[in-house]
Amino acid sequence: MVAAVARGGGGRRRAPVWRVGVAAVTGGKVILAAVVTRRRPDRRDLRRERHPGRDDQGAREEGALARIADFDVRPPRPEDARAMAELLAAVAEERDGIATEPPVDVDVWAKRFAASDAASFVAVADGAVVGMIQVDERRGVGKLAMLVARRWRRHGVGSALLGAAIERARTDGLRKLSLDVFPHNAAAIALYRKFGFVEEERRLEQYRRASGDAWDAIVMGLLL
Ligand SMILES: CC(C)(COP(=O)(O)OP(=O)(O)OC[C@H]1O[C@@H](n2cnc3c(N)ncnc32)[C@H](O)[C@@H]1OP(=O)(O)O)[C@@H](O)C(=O)NCCC(=O)NCCS
Repeated sequence: MVAAVARGGGGRRRAPVWRVGVAAVTGGKVILAAVVTRRRPDRRDLRRERHPGRDDQGAREEGALARIADFDVRPPRPEDARAMAELLAAVAEERDGIATEPPVDVDVWAKRFAASDAASFVAVADGAVVGMIQVDERRGVGKLAMLVARRWRRHGVGSALLGAAIERARTDGLRKLSLDVFPHNAAAIALYRKFGFVEEERRLEQYRRASGDAWDAIVMGLLL
């Protein structure tokens, strides 16, 4: 049984606020520890503290933005499989951050996601899947893959997903998380570094692309 695992929220010009709370319970066992992360207060917060009520317009504006950026992180349900496949297809169209390229057969991928036994989380906003992460465990090492819908990036979704996956991997007793990232993927590399991943090696021409090029991959890892 899983209740809300994470909440995210933030404004257009401000650092996102997100919290990961205890909520995932399997067979009576709590499988996620609590993690609470909040942004530091900024000038607007301090002004509101000093002059309560004076910044109503700003607060209204911020409330609207926070609603736009609200999302939950939870393990996927069977009925999420198709939305996950559609999200994969959309990000694959970018031909930039992930190894999968078009054409993505959504039916095939939906079945794969539904049958997958990888430890996974989805980020859901207004009923739509806007991000996902999967950790495939082999011999104590979890191979990690993740993506966030383009218009939801830089709102803390990736951080919330990664935070939840790391906590879950620790609880499951994994030794390490590992992933491949393209060297040009500055956003992903920055996100992984932020969570303590280090670069271990560079694999030359590891991924053949539809264009005929072969891209290098950086292997990053996090000891748990
Ligand atoms: C990589 C990805 C998952 C990040 O997700 P996100 O929801 O945008 O991440 P967050 O908003 O939580 O950002 C977390 C941190 O990542 C870094 N980051 C994110 N986007 C960045 C960008 N465009 N440039 C530089 N750093 C960036 C920052 O350190 C950021 O922290 P900050 O906001 O406090 O500065 C997302 O960009 C994505 O899905 N890209 C396409 C698919 C992909 O590349 N997947 C990874 C394959 S290895």
